[in-house]
Amino acid sequence: MMDSSRITIFDTTLRDGEQSPGCSMNVREKARLARQLDCLGVDVIEAGFPISSEGDFAAVEAVAAAVPRPIIAALARAARHDIERAAQALHAAVRPRIHVFLATSDIHLQHKLRISRRQCLELARDSVRLARTLVSDVEFSPEDATRTHPEFLFEVLEAVIEAGVTTVNIPDTVGFTVPAEFARLIGAIRERVRGIDQVTISAHCHNDLGMAVANSLAAIAAGARQVECTINGIGERAGNASLEEIVMALHVRADQYPYQSGIVTSQLYPTSQMLEEITGIAVQPNKAIIGRNAFAHEAGIHQDGMLKNPLTYEIMTPQSVGVPDSKLVLGKHSGRHALSLRCEQLGYRFERRELDEIYRHFVIMADRIKHVHDHHLLELIRDTYGETHRVSPGQTERAAAAAAGAEHRGLAFPAGVPAEFSAASLPTTPQPEQQEDYLWGV
Ligand code: KIV
Ligand code: ZN
Repeated sequence: MMDSSRITIFDTTLRDGEQSPGCSMNVREKARLARQLDCLGVDVIEAGFPISSEGDFAAVEAVAAAVPRPIIAALARAARHDIERAAQALHAAVRPRIHVFLATSDIHLQHKLRISRRQCLELARDSVRLARTLVSDVEFSPEDATRTHPEFLFEVLEAVIEAGVTTVNIPDTVGFTVPAEFARLIGAIRERVRGIDQVTISAHCHNDLGMAVANSLAAIAAGARQVECTINGIGERAGNASLEEIVMALHVRADQYPYQSGIVTSQLYPTSQMLEEITGIAVQPNKAIIGRNAFAHEAGIHQDGMLKNPLTYEIMTPQSVGVPDSKLVLGKHSGRHALSLRCEQLGYRFERRELDEIYRHFVIMADRIKHVHDHHLLELIRDTYGETHRVSPGQTERAAAAAAGAEHRGLAFPAGVPAEFSAASLPTTPQPEQQEDYLWGV
């Protein structure tokens, strides 16, 4: 029997994600990313839309052949040729799923499809029936569900359940809904649609109002047991719900969301990096979970707190999502504590007064350039004190031991520091003079 708190993660990076400008992938790239999605532990990979192009057909075939564990889904419109093409592309899949979609909102029926509600209902039912003759796992999506008249939506869902669908997906196609409203819709579907207990309810949210993840979580809390999402949140327009954000929200806030996914969270960052490498589309630096700055701390108060105990400013460890280390960025908000640590990493140690002098120059420099990189700092140290404060190799032993502790606590610094000086001292108990960093760092 299905665990009622287990959330199925349906990854659509290769289909809806690929529809975002600049994100198209060739067959080889899709197969490579699919292998990584397998390592990540996603339950379903939507590999493409076979009728849309020869390339997409080949990509679905390749992914189905390359990755046997997850369910492989192929998208199809509610049309015979689409559905048959999807089934053909899935021939090698161990667990094939055909995902049929048909718009149900009046605005789409009248202006896009130019069919009546009655015709829509029949098409939906017939398409699912056909798909069920080809595979045993069929998902149906009433496109633009959140702008569909609820009574008609319930009718369509009942019809496709009768026709043998296994998952009903509720897409917020245009990113229009808000969490409380979406939760009410899922609740109403559970109450009003006959046979709904026999199928899985899924949520598919777009991010036009920046609420795709919040809406997906609201849907889960209201009873959805599958969420459709993409790596880095890529997708049409403002994108789809971001997989890494949904998964880590479930993980970090298990008190609020008592549900589990099968995701290996330490594979989140490597997967994100691979997608970035394949598409060439950089993730925004402040993107939650996997952005370059997601674990970076620049403000002095924050750096000081982090060095004393990472729990002060980190709600999850970088390692838990596969980020190699936490980065203390040296900038104008940094305090002396972080500056001193970085100097030691670079192989220089200073007495308190000497450090004050370095710090004075550092603040002037940081005001001019945004981030003080190691080479800037080395130049500043050499200009101020020459090589007189270089730490001898013997003195680095204490630092090495401290660095091991730092690494353990997710505080190691980014690569680029010469190996012989990569160790750092990390005071574990606050020293009285460090309190001053609060004044310096704000
Ligand atoms: O956003 C959407 O409605 C879709 C469907 C095909 C599920 O991507
Ligand atoms: Zn979509």
